[in-house]
Amino acid sequence: MEIKNICCIGAGYVGGPTMAVIAQKCPKIQVTVVDINEKRIAAWNDEDVNNIPIYEPGLSDIVKEARGRNLFFSTDVDGAIEKADMIFISVNTPTKTYGIGKGMAADLKYIELCARQIARVAKNDKIVIEKSTLPVRTAAALKEILDNTSNGVKFQILSNPEFLAEGTAVEDLMAPDRVLIGGDIDTAEGRDAMQALVKVYSSWVPRENILTTNVWSSELSKLTANAFLAQRVSSINAMSELCEKTGADVNEVAKAVGMDSRIGSKFLKSSVGFGGSCFQKDILNLVYISKSFGLNEVADYWEQVITMNDHQKRRFAAKIVQTLFNTVAGKKIAMLGWAFKKDTNDTRESAAIYVADYLLNEQAEIVVYDPKVRAEQIYADLDYLGTRSEAENRNLLKVVSTPQQACEEAHAIAVLTEWDEFKNLEWENIYKNMLKPAFLFDGRRLLNKKELDNLGFETFVIGN
Ligand code: UDX
Ligand code: ADP
Repeated sequence: MEIKNICCIGAGYVGGPTMAVIAQKCPKIQVTVVDINEKRIAAWNDEDVNNIPIYEPGLSDIVKEARGRNLFFSTDVDGAIEKADMIFISVNTPTKTYGIGKGMAADLKYIELCARQIARVAKNDKIVIEKSTLPVRTAAALKEILDNTSNGVKFQILSNPEFLAEGTAVEDLMAPDRVLIGGDIDTAEGRDAMQALVKVYSSWVPRENILTTNVWSSELSKLTANAFLAQRVSSINAMSELCEKTGADVNEVAKAVGMDSRIGSKFLKSSVGFGGSCFQKDILNLVYISKSFGLNEVADYWEQVITMNDHQKRRFAAKIVQTLFNTVAGKKIAMLGWAFKKDTNDTRESAAIYVADYLLNEQAEIVVYDPKVRAEQIYADLDYLGTRSEAENRNLLKVVSTPQQACEEAHAIAVLTEWDEFKNLEWENIYKNMLKPAFLFDGRRLLNKKELDNLGFETFVIGN
């Protein structure tokens, strides 16, 4: 089966970069990314590629090369579905905020809407690929909707989980550790569909790095990979608290532990807590499905990874309050960074949101600087928590456009995201313009504590 036309529903952090790379690597395939969000599509089509809605190093160059050649962004969802041989679904799948499974299960309403739309519009057989992060058994749900609502058109459903990490999405897509394709391996049609997708990826990914499995293995592998990665972060964060009590240094512990080749050195960086759209959501999914099968011990085991992460965010905020003589009421706290990690403008589940919320409850006055996140996003993140009125959030928290402005006359600085630019700030100047004692809380172990202490700061570093 030769794929000539690909449609991707959802022009977000997954769909946008993934399709840009497929288009760049497969110039003979026409790739159309569609979204119902007109503003987002307009931004993807902005003449100035620096204005595309997603910040990822290297992405704008790829968009520049492929856009208008074989990469298109559109709001005509029906038109793109109709033309496509292969449809990727990469719409958002947030955690449910209502009803059964509230706070745990994935909300599949966007996926279901897509499936129904595909079934309504499709006039010829198609391969439909789940690309969003989804709980196990979503492919089965997709298949049931498509098979029961289409007009005799046949669909093959594949699971092709995304392993890209934000901030390094382009690198991860260009040279993935592996590509995973799950499908109906028991039928010839299923195997053909899988091969069609293998062919797309093998334009640039070595064949031995492309794995084919049954659908369930593919879906569960994605959740497992994210649960294992998040577990490592929670494990090292648990040790960070013990390090602070015992005089050990968590970086030294991480290095010593990571040099054991059975353990490995990656994902052992202690921080103010993991964020991002995947880790928490995927673990919650894992907990939810485990519970639904009556596997309570399995569910409790994984839930602890989240409990630890919540604790880490809370204890960082509490440390600020405690150090500032047990009150931050009316005190200016500068927050450097709002994104959940560096090199992305994504803020979903960012630790900064929860730290800010905690400090606002203590009546702090917060001033935020982040090089890539816009003020409206920061306010939307806080408003979403529903802790206080929108007016209060805007009154108590300000967003500024330079780190100097944020730190001026502040009682304390908290580093929440490990942006490279924070390493080289004019710290001496910043110190001069702060209230004394000038406190600095490094939630990312980014800065040199000794140098800062020498300048006069009272520096607290997580895990020291
Ligand atoms: C993750 C997975 O890595 C990726 O494979 C999957 O497709 C999506 O979820 P992402 O959430 O984009 O990617 O970023 P990741 O680099 O995994 O970081 C997640 C969070 O963990 C960030 O907040 C990061 O700061 C934190 N982290 C990561 C640590 O605190 N310490 C570490 O050592 C690594
Ligand atoms: P992810 O990180 O999974 O890519 P995002 O929220 O960044 O998630 O992107 C998902 C995109 O999917 C959003 O831009 C949203 O507007 C889009 N979307 C959701 N439902 C539909 C739909 N039925 N048709 C088209 N686009 C949709």
